[in-house]
Amino acid sequence: MDLFLSLDPSIAKRRAVETALRRSVALGQLPVGSRVPGTRELATELGVARGTVTAAIDDLVADGVLVTRERAGTFVARAPGASDAARVAPVEPTMRWDLRPGRPEAGSFPLARWSAALRRAAAGWTPTGADEDARGSLELRAQLAAYLARARGVETTPDSVVVCAGYRSATNVLAVALRGQGAERVAIEDPALPALDTAWRWAGVQTVDLPVDAAGARVDLLDSSIDAAVLTPAHQFPLGVVLSAARRRDVLSWAAASRSVVIEDDYDGEFRFDRRPVAALQRSAPDRVIYIGSTSKSLDPRLRLGWMVLPPDLVGPVAATTLALTGGVPELDQLALAELIRSGDYERHIRRQRREYARRRVLLDQVLAQAGSTATGISAGLQAIVPLPPRSHGDEGGTLRAGDAMLHTLGRYSRTDDHPPSAVVGFATPPRSQFDAAIHAFARWLREASGSDAARVIAPSPRHHAG
Ligand SMILES: Cc1ncc(COP(=O)(O)O)c(C=O)c1O
Repeated sequence: MDLFLSLDPSIAKRRAVETALRRSVALGQLPVGSRVPGTRELATELGVARGTVTAAIDDLVADGVLVTRERAGTFVARAPGASDAARVAPVEPTMRWDLRPGRPEAGSFPLARWSAALRRAAAGWTPTGADEDARGSLELRAQLAAYLARARGVETTPDSVVVCAGYRSATNVLAVALRGQGAERVAIEDPALPALDTAWRWAGVQTVDLPVDAAGARVDLLDSSIDAAVLTPAHQFPLGVVLSAARRRDVLSWAAASRSVVIEDDYDGEFRFDRRPVAALQRSAPDRVIYIGSTSKSLDPRLRLGWMVLPPDLVGPVAATTLALTGGVPELDQLALAELIRSGDYERHIRRQRREYARRRVLLDQVLAQAGSTATGISAGLQAIVPLPPRSHGDEGGTLRAGDAMLHTLGRYSRTDDHPPSAVVGFATPPRSQFDAAIHAFARWLREASGSDAARVIAPSPRHHAG
C-alpha cells in the first residue's frame, strides 16, 4: 500500500481512522474510483483492531464517500465536497518514509498477547502493598534472571535484579547512586545515545569522552581516575561495531585494578543475525559489571520497562535510589511482562522480529550496493551506518531529509566532530509494507546526491551536535 496515514491520537480511534481516510481522499492519495486497501491491511498498518477499520469504513460508506461492491472491495465513490474538505483537520507535513533509528517495527507490538498477559497478571494481583520490594516484583525478577541467563549468558539470581523504567531511567538512578558511593568521573562512548552525559552531570558526575574505533570503545584510554565506563559492547550504538575480545579482557582488568565499574548497555543484544550473539560482558565479571537491558527494542519504547543486574554490593544502594527517585515501576506492567516471558510469547516475538530485521538488513545491503554504497557495522540490531556524500549535513537536531526519507546523521550522536558525514539508518521502524519503498527512496537520494553538487547540501547547518 502506498498511503501514508497518520492517526490523530487525541480523538477516538474509529473517528481517527475515518478522518485519516477522508484526508487521503481529499488530498487525492485515494482518487475517485480507486480501491481502498483491505481492512486487514489497514488495521496492521495503523496498529488498530480490524473492527475499528471496518466501522470507520462503514461511516464513510454511509456518508457516500466510499462504496462497497460485493466481492470486489471498497472504492472511492466521490470527490470530497467543500464540506468534506473543511472537516479534514490540517496535519503537520510528515516525511513519507521514517528511517530514524531507535524504534522497533511500527505495528509489530504483540498487543493481543500483551493484553492477555496483563489480564492474567491482574487476575492474580493482590494490591496490598505489604510486600513492596524496592527491586521490583519477585515474579518479574525471577523470569528476567532465567531469561537473561538463557538469551544473553548473564550470571545472576533474582536477588541481584532491579527493575526500572528503561535504560534512561536506569542512567539517572545509577548516576545518583554511584555519586552517593563516591564516584566522580564517568567515561562515555563517543558517539552514544544523546544526552547521556547530561544525565550524569546533573548528578554531579564529571563526564569524559571515550572514542570508538573499529574494535569498539578505546578502553586503553581508561585510567584509575575514572570510576565508571558506560559501554555498548555487543553492538556499539550507533556505530554498530563489537568490542573486541582483547578489549573485553582489558576493560575488565582495568575495572578490577581501579575498583571501578563497567556499565553494560545491552540495548539490542537479542538481535544478532549472522551468528549467536557474544555473551554479555557481565558474565565474565559479575562483581564489576552493571548490566542493563530494556523492552524498548524488543517490544516498544513506550512501555518503559527495563532491568539492571548489579554486583552484590550495589543492589541495596541502587534499589533504594530507584525507589526514592522514581517510586518504582507500575506493578501490573511488571507482572504482565513476567507473564509474557513465562508463557514463551516474549521470546517467540523476539525470534519473529529477528527474522524480519535480518531480512531487512540483507535487503538494505543489496539496495545500497546497487547505489554504489555500503553500510558499516555488524549484521545486527535495528540500525546501520551509511556514509554520506561530502558536505551532507542534517539540520541542527541532526535530522536529514533525504528525498522522501527522514534519517538521523551521525553528528546527532557525537559530542565531537571526528566522524565523516554518515547517516544512521533505522531500518526496523517502517511497517512491513513500506520498508522496500523507504529503502529505495533513500538509495535513490543517495545516488543522486553523490552524483550532483546541487543535491549535496540539503540543509543549511554547517555543523551538527548531540541533540
Ligand atoms: C544505545 C541505547 N541504549 C538504550 C536504549 C533504550 O533506552 P530506553 O530503555 O530508555 O528506552 C536505546 C534506545 O534507543 C539506545 O539506543
